[in-house]
Amino acid sequence: MANLEHLISESLSDFNACADMPALENAKAKYLGKTGALTEALKGLGKLSNEERPAAGAAINVVKQAVEAALNARREAILNAEQAKQLAAESLDVTLPARAQSTGGLHPVTLTLQRIEQLFHSIGFDVATGPEIETDFYNFTALNIPENHPARAMHDTFYVDENNVLRTHTSPVQIHYMENKEPPLKIIAPGRVYRVDSDATHSPMFHQVEGLWVDENISFANLKGVVQDFLQKFFERDDLTVRFRPSFFPFTEPSAEMDMSWNGGWLEIGGCGMVHPEVFKHVNIDSEKYRGFAFGLGVERLAMLRYGVNDLRHFFNNDLRFLSQFK
Ligand code: DAH
Repeated sequence: MANLEHLISESLSDFNACADMPALENAKAKYLGKTGALTEALKGLGKLSNEERPAAGAAINVVKQAVEAALNARREAILNAEQAKQLAAESLDVTLPARAQSTGGLHPVTLTLQRIEQLFHSIGFDVATGPEIETDFYNFTALNIPENHPARAMHDTFYVDENNVLRTHTSPVQIHYMENKEPPLKIIAPGRVYRVDSDATHSPMFHQVEGLWVDENISFANLKGVVQDFLQKFFERDDLTVRFRPSFFPFTEPSAEMDMSWNGGWLEIGGCGMVHPEVFKHVNIDSEKYRGFAFGLGVERLAMLRYGVNDLRHFFNNDLRFLSQFK
């Protein structure tokens, strides 16, 4: 029996050397497995005499129990360590600061439109809107651009069908508005317009804001004052000035192109003029009694200048790296 005693210390150091459960199961086999040392010893009991057997059996059991105790202690230690490791890995630090919510923002073109509307509203202009699919009549004819007029070719028009177009400008809103209202009229009409055109400075869809002021004594001087005042406030530059270059639009007479002073030079920002008597005739407004000015500005142009954007296409690519700068 003396040669069994050493199994206790031997198994203890074997078990303690095991880092995980599979290793421990392997180590166990050497002592308690089918051919383990203690199992063999118990089998050997049968060969002993009746006198020897009880003492030998008791001695083997003492060793066996000690080995099993060592095994269980180690098993418990390994399971505890594994559980502690898992808990540490899954732990939540509730004292960490919360992750910031990311909120959306308005599109730079929307911000620009809002700014335009707010500034014109402050000097008494209402906001009017019209459909983006227009009949030929509203987009062209009523604006004194009859069929086969060369001015139609200037607008690279998307035709929906023979009689309907995607509006090429916001000017038809003037017609809708004047059809339904008596002067004095004082509106801006912001909105989407469409042209067959696409490069760094042209997009097939873009935004314009139309202006219209009809009353008994409206003059070109009012037009210049309103536009210059608007641009000064829009760009927050008191020294900004506007100049007119004679031009042609079928729906105004006289017509002009508007430039504004910008970094020592001039930048074209839209068209304008005094409402043409033919246009008044289409909407039954007496052109002997009333006069009006109208203008059209490109919204993306204003946005590019205000925010320093150098490519029109940034506005329409929906790249969040670009858009999130305007939050
Ligand atoms: N509708 C013109 C265009 O899109 C711009 C314009 C010019 C509008 C003169 C006006 C105007 O109201 O008077 O090219």
